[in-house]
Amino acid sequence: MKLKIRPRINRWTESRRNLVYGPSIAESLVQPHFVVSGEDVNEEIPGMPGVNRQSKDVLVRTIAEDVSMGIAAHMIFPVMDDNEKDSLGTRAADDEMPLQLVVGDLKQKFGNEIVLMTDACLCTSTDHGHCGLLDGQDIVNDPSVEMLVRISLSHARVGADYVCLSDMMDGRVGAVRTALEKEGMKSTGIMSYSVKYASSFYGPFRDAASSAPAFGDRSSHQMDVRSDYREAILEAKEDVKEGCDISMVKPGLSYLDVLREVAANIERPVAVYNVSGEYSMVMSYAKEIEQRKRVVLEVLGSFKRAGADIIVSYHAREAVREGWV
Ligand code: PBG
Repeated sequence: MKLKIRPRINRWTESRRNLVYGPSIAESLVQPHFVVSGEDVNEEIPGMPGVNRQSKDVLVRTIAEDVSMGIAAHMIFPVMDDNEKDSLGTRAADDEMPLQLVVGDLKQKFGNEIVLMTDACLCTSTDHGHCGLLDGQDIVNDPSVEMLVRISLSHARVGADYVCLSDMMDGRVGAVRTALEKEGMKSTGIMSYSVKYASSFYGPFRDAASSAPAFGDRSSHQMDVRSDYREAILEAKEDVKEGCDISMVKPGLSYLDVLREVAANIERPVAVYNVSGEYSMVMSYAKEIEQRKRVVLEVLGSFKRAGADIIVSYHAREAVREGWV
């Protein structure tokens, strides 16, 4: 059988059910991580206190600690050295890269106790830093989708629960769903960044992932920050039709109204990404822990109130460790 939509994917494991359907903030949280090559690497990221770039040995220990505190869902971004990048982002689809290896290690260690989400984009693996392949200065759509399919299949092979498509190319959800069906991978989920704006709030992340575009910007594919709800709903509905299991709105705080509209208009769970710039602002403002607790609870609570089922946030670890949520 080859299906477009498999609603069972979100129910496949208890940890997925808790993440998607659990009503509390704690159950809804996803902690992002950055994995680099090497051993014993644990580098701080400017502007993002508490979030490090880690080699896979260190990352396994970090996630083990998070799991023991009660964070079951984790999103991992691959970070590549310049010498691992090329114009096509080839290494992103390599089963032997640190992201793929760490997913394998974590699944072996924790099985379905954890939900692993992996970022499938081209900006961290291309030498030009764009989320798609180039023809001159243009980001071409369909060849980029072919590459995203290869990356997604690699993530699925090593055991990712959800492949996360953060690129905003047209038609990539359907292409990845079709490929997963063809390869017989019928329990791998797709989380689509359906409504992702060409926002100025991604700065610290781009430093962390060394993924800033070498020229130009992301406005030809990410959504215009001035666009209205119609386009947001169109993008989310299209991804649902193509077979995404979770649809995301990003960033969070400046787009709570959009989050609410999307959550009210689609038939799939909705995630929100509390992005690096938002995290950075809170961390530089609320240096004292009691104040930070109140600010973080206000932020996370606003996502729930607007309709988020899942909250990807760099605040997850502290919020759970300190018992705020
Ligand atoms: C990759 C990607 C980005 C983020 C998540 N996935 C950056 C971008 O689009 O440039 C940003 C996350 C954050 O700021 O925390 N395409």
